[in-house]
Parts: sequence; C-alpha cells; structure tokens
Amino acid sequence: MDYSEKLKNLPTQFFANLVGKVNKAIEDGRDVINLGQGNPDQPTPKHIVQALQKAVEDPDTHKYSPFRGLLELKEAVCDFYKKEYDVDVDPAHEVAILFGTKAGLIELPMCLLNPGDLMLLPDPGYPDYLSGVVLAGVEYDLFPLKAENHFLPDYNAISSDVLDSAKLLYLNYPNNPTGAVANLGFFNQTVKLAKKHEITVMHDFAYGAIGFDGKKPVSFLQVDGAKDIGVEMYTLSKTYNMAGWRVGFAVGNPTIIEAINLIQDHLYVSLFPAVQKAAIAALSGDQTCVKELVARYESRRNAFVDACKQIGWDVTAPKGSFFAWLPVPDGFTSQSFTDYLLDAADVAVAPGNGFGKYGEGFIRVGLLMDEARLVEAVQRIGNLGVFKNK
Ligand SMILES: Cc1ncc(COP(=O)(O)O)c(C=O)c1O
Repeated sequence: MDYSEKLKNLPTQFFANLVGKVNKAIEDGRDVINLGQGNPDQPTPKHIVQALQKAVEDPDTHKYSPFRGLLELKEAVCDFYKKEYDVDVDPAHEVAILFGTKAGLIELPMCLLNPGDLMLLPDPGYPDYLSGVVLAGVEYDLFPLKAENHFLPDYNAISSDVLDSAKLLYLNYPNNPTGAVANLGFFNQTVKLAKKHEITVMHDFAYGAIGFDGKKPVSFLQVDGAKDIGVEMYTLSKTYNMAGWRVGFAVGNPTIIEAINLIQDHLYVSLFPAVQKAAIAALSGDQTCVKELVARYESRRNAFVDACKQIGWDVTAPKGSFFAWLPVPDGFTSQSFTDYLLDAADVAVAPGNGFGKYGEGFIRVGLLMDEARLVEAVQRIGNLGVFKNK
C-alpha cells in the first residue's frame, strides 16, 4: 500500500526529530535540561480543572456538541475580547471554535485557496504553517524577519508582483520563535497593505497573553478595518496552561469564520462539551492566574538573560512569548551549536534553522523551567568557554 502524494509531501516534523534526540539522551541516563520545546510547564489553574470535573458529571456533556460549538462559549469569547482588547465580536457569525489553533492554522489555506495559489509566511516561523500549505496544495513565499527590523516584516522589501498574487498572509506576535512583539502601527500598515493587494490576513495570537515590562500585547483586531480582511486565532494552551486540552478559537471576518465552520462541519462535531464548559470558566473567570503566569515568565526571563550576560553571551531580552532567541557564538551554525550543547553540556535547545533559513545563526530557548534550572543551563554553557573571546 502506498501513501497519497499529499501525505508524502508533508514536511518532516521538526519537533519530532528534536524530541527523539533529546529522549535518547535522557534514556541514556543523562541529566538533560530540556529547553527545546514549547510545552507550558505549569498546571491548568484549579478553577478551570474543577469546571471540567463538574461539567463531566452532567450527562448533557456526554452528547454530541452542536456542530459549531456551544453558543455560550462563543459568547464567553466575545466578552473576553471586549474586556481584554475592547474589540466587539459577534458570537453568532464572528467566532469559530477550534481544536487548538493548530487545527485552524492548517485548515485555513484549504478553506480559502485553490491549488497553486500563493500564501506568504514568516521566516523564521512556526513550522506547522507549512503543513497547511502542503495539505491545501498551495504555493508559498517566505518573508524574512530580521533583527534589524525587530523581527517584523519589511513589506517594502516584498515585490509588488508577489504582493499582487498573494492571497493569504500569516503573522504571529508575540512571535514564536523570536519573542518579538508588534504594535498597532504595524498592524495598521498590515491592514492597508492587505486591502491594497487583496490579501487575507491571519494573525496567530497564540502568545497574546504573554507580554513583559508592563506591556500587554495588542490584538490585530484592535485596528480599524482588520475585520474586513482577516481573522485572529487565539489559544487557551498558553494563557491558561491548557495545551493538552486542545481548545482555541478564531475571531474576525464573518466570511472567513463561515469558511472555517464549514470545513469543520465535515471534519468534526466540535469539542467535548465539558472541555467547552471549562474553556468558558477560563475565559470568563478571574484572570489573576494569567497575571501570575506572566510574572513567572518575566522573572524567569530576567534570571535567564542576566545569567547569559554574566557568561558573556550578548542576548536581547524577549518582549513577549515564553521564548528567548539567542545568537550562536562565532564558529558555530545553529545546528552545530545545538548538537554541541546537548553533547557537551546536556542542554537541549531548538536550532533556529528549523524555523526557516533566516533562523540560521540563532537558537531558541523555552523559558519553561524554574529559574534555578534555567540558570544552571546557562552556567553549564558558560563552562564550555565558547563566549570567552566575545
Ligand atoms: C506560534 C504558535 N501558533 C500556534 C500554536 C498551536 O497552539 P495550539 O494548537 O495548542 O492552540 C503554537 C504552539 O506551540 C505556536 O507556537
């Protein structure tokens, strides 16, 4: 039996390769500090777990969900966007419930594009965007995110031919992997560009809750006209440490939302209703847990960046997300430094080139361990002596 061309063309799962290597080292009995992944380390807040427990006792949640999810959850999403971003969203037409945003990101090209159509993706960027490209049989162009532009795209550097043929643009701020954030000016510029060239925009707001130094990340929907041309995808995975629960949503343009709902009518019968009830508890409950989580990540970031500076590593503190994006020392590539750290220091990181060509020269570290362990990782790296000549 053979697989379809589509399946054969799927990109190799970058994270799967990484996890295999690290697991092998752990199986060999080594004390690996694994900073390579993006899996939140803290538990889901208690009130959300309790809401699930209560919901699961109710036999009504054992039935099929309405195909497009519980209206009550969509209303909670709208209240959340109003409260957090002062954005008005219509629960009936402007919200689609997702099995985590990963599902939405992958479905969207299939919903909006035809084989051969062009979409634009960030480089470096979240590798799963490419899975959606392959499954939809579309073409893609990458635009670089460079340090000198604060890891925002330079739209002037994209040719007008490319902009005219592109149908869909993906953005992600706070950004995985660079930790960069966007501002409203940039999103305004994006809406103008999208209207001029008739491009649909998907803003991946996975790290929307995680901004540092007192600055809350802005929503794409906060700018005028955003809803005319795009959607934003938001996940509960990071904000409430619910990565395993698989719950997220898309909000914005009603035609795009309808397209997502339509494809999902054919793929699923929405999420387990008890999970939807727990998501309502998360979005409409007390948000102190989110503030505490962001403070925790910020203090980890500070401890990590201070430790890097002490060993002579010239790093920039991320402004959002739970990732640090660090330059590799002279004489190394992303991959060779990653391999060296695992072999010589038992520290696992993600090589920047796994996120795209423009990720070369960087590694990504997840701030998903307590401060002592993060500092220990940096000290182990310091002991290798590679930064002495910098
Ligand atoms: C940038 C980005 N987008 C989307 C996702 C997917 O999140 P989920 O499918 O858990 O909602 C992730 C997860 O790591 C991510 O880093």
